[in-house]
Amino acid sequence: MKASEIRNAYLQFFKSKGHTIVASSPVVPEDDPTLLFTNAGMNQFKNCYLGIEKRSYTRATTSQKCIRAGGKHNDLDNVGYTARHHTFFEMLGNFSFGDYFKQDAIPWAWEFLTKVLELPPERLWVTVYIDDDEAYDIWNKQIGIPAERIIRIGDNKGGKYLSDNFWMMGDTGPCGPCSEIFFDRGPSVQGGPPGSPDEDGDRWLEIWNLVFTQFNRDASGKMNRLPHPNIDTGMGLERIASVLQDVPTNYDIDLFQNLMKAAKSAVEAAGAVNVVPGTPSLKVIADHIRACAFAIADGVTPGNEGRAYVLRRICRRAIRHGYKLGARKPFFYTLVKPLAEEMGDVYPELNKPSIAQVIKAEEERFFLTLANGMEILEDAISKTTNGVLNGDVVFKLHDTFGFPADLTADVCRERGIRVDTDAFDRAMDEQRAKARAAGKFKIAAGLIYNGEGNEFHGYSELVTEGAKVIALYKDGVPAEVAEAGDEAVLVFDKTPFYAEMGGQVGDSGTAENASTFVKILDTFHIKSNVYAHVSHVAEGSVRVGDVFKLQVDAERRAAIARNHSVTHLMDKALKSVCGEHVSQKGSLVTPEFTRFDFTHDRPVTEEQIAEVEDLVNREILGNTPSKTEIMSIEDAKKTGAIMLFGEKYGKEVRVVTVGNSKELCGGTHVARTGDIGCFKIVSESGISAGVRRIEAVTGLNALHMLQKKTRLVNDVLSRFRGVPEEEIPAKVDSCFDQIHRLEKELETVKEKLSTQAGAELASRARVVKGVQVLAVALEGADARSLRETADKVRDKLKSAVVVLAAKNGEKLQICAGMTPDIVKRGLKAGELVRFVAEQVGGKGGGKPDFAMAGGSNPAALPAALESVYGWAEKAL
Ligand code: ALA
Repeated sequence: MKASEIRNAYLQFFKSKGHTIVASSPVVPEDDPTLLFTNAGMNQFKNCYLGIEKRSYTRATTSQKCIRAGGKHNDLDNVGYTARHHTFFEMLGNFSFGDYFKQDAIPWAWEFLTKVLELPPERLWVTVYIDDDEAYDIWNKQIGIPAERIIRIGDNKGGKYLSDNFWMMGDTGPCGPCSEIFFDRGPSVQGGPPGSPDEDGDRWLEIWNLVFTQFNRDASGKMNRLPHPNIDTGMGLERIASVLQDVPTNYDIDLFQNLMKAAKSAVEAAGAVNVVPGTPSLKVIADHIRACAFAIADGVTPGNEGRAYVLRRICRRAIRHGYKLGARKPFFYTLVKPLAEEMGDVYPELNKPSIAQVIKAEEERFFLTLANGMEILEDAISKTTNGVLNGDVVFKLHDTFGFPADLTADVCRERGIRVDTDAFDRAMDEQRAKARAAGKFKIAAGLIYNGEGNEFHGYSELVTEGAKVIALYKDGVPAEVAEAGDEAVLVFDKTPFYAEMGGQVGDSGTAENASTFVKILDTFHIKSNVYAHVSHVAEGSVRVGDVFKLQVDAERRAAIARNHSVTHLMDKALKSVCGEHVSQKGSLVTPEFTRFDFTHDRPVTEEQIAEVEDLVNREILGNTPSKTEIMSIEDAKKTGAIMLFGEKYGKEVRVVTVGNSKELCGGTHVARTGDIGCFKIVSESGISAGVRRIEAVTGLNALHMLQKKTRLVNDVLSRFRGVPEEEIPAKVDSCFDQIHRLEKELETVKEKLSTQAGAELASRARVVKGVQVLAVALEGADARSLRETADKVRDKLKSAVVVLAAKNGEKLQICAGMTPDIVKRGLKAGELVRFVAEQVGGKGGGKPDFAMAGGSNPAALPAALESVYGWAEKAL
């Protein structure tokens, strides 16, 4: 069956089951900031699951365009080198919003696979979430899949609900346990069944995931039950096509074979010679053209942030692979046409002419980078004398010229030259440290500016008219123009934006003129008197010489000012409460909070914290006007203003008075202390020997924090209805004590019970060839008590063969034990337990003297236990 036929058969099948066929949503999710790209069929229905949105249907089926590159489900680096990873793929899915659930979803999936696609049932395996007995039973009893082809998978990824069988859309959103269907491609292919150590091989291929969407995970990680249970399924079209077309990888299906042929011709037309068909680079290119074309068709253009950046990475990765094959001029954009021929009838958006244009522009730009980089690299290679390329060159190519390090490594490998990777890693580490120090923006690191300084107007105004652009950078290097969509760093001749300094974060806001609108995201210093604005051009374009009206985000600035001014008051109050030795070691002032590190050799006590809060809030209530004065350093010293020891100050300094505090400071502050509103310390901790850290909030943030705490306390109090508030802590302590006591008691009782049970059970043993043999079922025991009871019985009987079984619901647990003398006679507990388990639909094993197994058919248990005596008769 061709991929297009499978797509059609799927949609029609679910239509016949009452589903509405819904069109794929764009690969750029609408109104969902939690997602970079549409990564699953269910995305467009998120609000239907959450119960926020109602549609005219409660059953839907789609073939959804998905991109998994960046974000929670990211396959980019695997693509081209594995049989089944893609950046772009189509997901077939059927969905129920509070309509049908597992009882229908599972049988329909089975019917579609075995009746419509006619896959042999005996080659299908399934997994279920560890405790999903309901799904297990439907597969086992209703469908009739034998127990050995149903595998329970638990939390196998290092945390609660982190499991192959628990599906989450992202860090938040609808999610739930799932059941996956696998196709066994037969023993000629390497790999093990799901859950086994070799599960990553290609033999067992996951083809369909049925998610039982029952929860909404919120930002705190809490799983909130959804108003009704839902179904969300996903089957990769390319994978199922590879199964039906009986080909080893997704790249061998009809659709990809055609694209790879086109990719080969395209790189050969651009200079590559005799490219080997099926080489990984061709796979990369054939895969990536789909992601790029669909993303661009849905409105993304390559850029430096978010999904624009992901698109650029995918695009450049494809170009790089073309380059590796020998392409020396743009080729990638020519693949849009063959792609549209393959998929354009189902996805007509692929016929937009702009797609090829956007790719071509990106390609031309990157080929230029590659050409420049190659020249530098050739030069450096020709100068090497010892056959080793200096890591600094690799770093400079990467950092300054955007020439990828792996490409440098490839070229060197071809020339038989070694790369000094240690030096490269060192340079990378240094740069990372620098970038961190320079702030969050990687584009801010290492800019070179030799022009004039700018005027700072931000102490007295938040809007500055007529500011002229005097420098412009893109990707860390000077540029002539920044267009809509670009990230750039701008320097103006004058600015009201405060640049990050002395712990106070940089301002943000806007720059605009008649034709252009720019968002200023952050402001930092290139040099002490040069303020650089991290900018995103939203509309129009920016060139050196252009004139703008600059406007600081006033609300944010006010919040920063509150936190900065309060830091001075807190510093003063800490000195008076904890002692004059308190001295600032570091600070961070943001719109949300202030963080203050200071010297003090012990924790600040709760009483001291309350006292500091009182002192500071009194200053706020005093509502005195703040004052800033410029004076000589000598005069400043005379005022008693706080200065930082070891800090270098110029001749002229700025002395800021806020309430009862006086400090040398370049920051922006409130006009009156009353503007701070309210002050509350959030936390106090030690960060290194003799240095403490306090975090605090002001204004509405303080109120919100108190409201949150109050809610929390009320929530706890409501659980102790009737207990007076002040007695709650003692009550909680006594609850813990009681739990502890009860646990101990329970252990003693269990111990006693198992001793008694052991004695009682021992008396029921039968003698077989002079050996005591016992095979019985115990009600409600868990694995641990089975083991303990078996030990007791063995101790009691001295020479014995013991089998104990317990039934919990439909699940059975069985253990077998032998005394050492019996083990010496060659009997094995492992064999015995397997012998019993096989009769009750289970498996197991263990050591010669003790072994455990599971089982799933309680009805067969009595006979299986009885057979132990016969087994012993033969074996002894
Ligand atoms: N949403 C599910 C998945 O992507 C079906 O696997």
